Amino acid sequence: MTYASNKLIIFDTTLRDGEQSPGASMTKDEKIRIAKQLERMRVDVIEAGFAAASQGDFDAIKAIAGIVKDSTVCSLSRANDRDISRAAEALAPAARKRIHTFLATSPLHMEMKLRMTPDQVFEQAKRAVKFARQFTDDIEFSPEDASRSDIDFLCRVIEAVIAEGATTINFPDTVGYAVPELFANTIKTLRERIPNSDKAIWSVHCHNDLGMAVANSLAGVMIGGARQVECTINGLGERAGNTALEEIVMAVKTRSAYFNLEVGIDTTQIVPTSKLVSQITGFAVQPNKAVVGANAFAHASGIHQDGILKARETYEIMRAEDVGWSANKIVLGKLSGRNAFKQRLQELGIELESEAEVNAAFARFKELADQKSDIFDEDIMALVSGGQQSLADDYYQFVSLSQRSETGEKPSAKVVFSIDKQEFTCEAQGNGPVDATVNAIESQTKSGAELLLFSVNAITTGTQSQGEVTMRLSKAGRIVNGVGSDLDIVMASAKAYLSALNKLHSKIEKLNPQL
Ligand code: KIV
Ligand code: ZN
Repeated sequence: MTYASNKLIIFDTTLRDGEQSPGASMTKDEKIRIAKQLERMRVDVIEAGFAAASQGDFDAIKAIAGIVKDSTVCSLSRANDRDISRAAEALAPAARKRIHTFLATSPLHMEMKLRMTPDQVFEQAKRAVKFARQFTDDIEFSPEDASRSDIDFLCRVIEAVIAEGATTINFPDTVGYAVPELFANTIKTLRERIPNSDKAIWSVHCHNDLGMAVANSLAGVMIGGARQVECTINGLGERAGNTALEEIVMAVKTRSAYFNLEVGIDTTQIVPTSKLVSQITGFAVQPNKAVVGANAFAHASGIHQDGILKARETYEIMRAEDVGWSANKIVLGKLSGRNAFKQRLQELGIELESEAEVNAAFARFKELADQKSDIFDEDIMALVSGGQQSLADDYYQFVSLSQRSETGEKPSAKVVFSIDKQEFTCEAQGNGPVDATVNAIESQTKSGAELLLFSVNAITTGTQSQGEVTMRLSKAGRIVNGVGSDLDIVMASAKAYLSALNKLHSKIEKLNPQL
């Protein structure tokens, strides 16, 4: 693919690097939903996973490769034949495919992690790119931990992999150590020193450990000459996360006179995508997060409100509607029929796989509409996200709950749920109704999992809103997030807890690409 020199390629790695965030692992269906939304947002490249990491990742990449038509679909792979072949196999159905292979080049990683000499790394990098080229002519190479690598060695490796056919050279700040000026100047120097550097598109991939991922990426573009930014929705990712896609895109658009770059993203899809990723992963977006935080366009101070009313530009540099914020709109109600519901699903880009799934979602919608008069888009999205519905084949399934709490009394909860289709009724007390609910479930499941996080968010505004609960559990080194939503936050908590137990039960094991 050839691009204009001012085109900024947006490479989204929510489904790969974002998913590496502890607890953010997604099912195949969830990944497909996000991939479709990324395509709708017109992301150029979707890194759909790491095919050799697990059968689940392989299947998800293959499914996405078969569905996505407009974006390039990419798989990560270590620099060995097996990983590359696995990536190629998973990507086979894709209209446009990319293999992204990587190998660490910093002295620390080569010596302590890979236990390889620089010469061995050099040979393996070349060999990997040459091997990958037989499957596609769109090959990306990343010298992992590039920002802590020796510049002479980087010149040697990068020149060689471009000669072998790498078409994108990605410069990863794997541990978030870089600072903008140094980071950008290193890329600039590499591009000047490497004789065939113009045969590849240069890319940046930054982590946010020092809170500089977006700044480093933009410096890499403006000073270093990179024309691809690797990023994730909401900045999701391991540790402090990756470069946030929404911040890069809106910086380039809002300051277009300075950047003078073209981005193909449909910005009105940014907030819906952010909400989808947050709902699926259970990673709430902080209210003051740039662009997609609930307060990003809220003006509380009287002076600001007055200014905004007189001329919006006084305090607003972007328009909320341009990034997809719409005031909570009542979209459906108790009397809405199945057709209206189905049409709204379509408008929201939610494609349920079978009529049976539409029927099940519609039944949940009717149940909700009986309890709550106004149904918003956010409610509909929650209805079809992991937390609200028990899937027929889930090992643990929520049935019902009653709880009692009164000032001066110890709260108690009675939870009815099934384990492998057998129903149990369990009662327990706790320090609060949620604690009592978890104790009741644990009295039967005895999972022994440690609760790392319990958070409650209102899906829409007002006290009529459904509560969305996230429970993060850890057991034997695995961390999972469960999400549940309900008008009753104690019920939402029970659903979230059971959803996390289901994930622990599924025992999907993955390799970490950095290992
Ligand atoms: O952070 C990193 O170095 C990566 C590479 C695999 C590109 O994610
Ligand atoms: Zn990374």
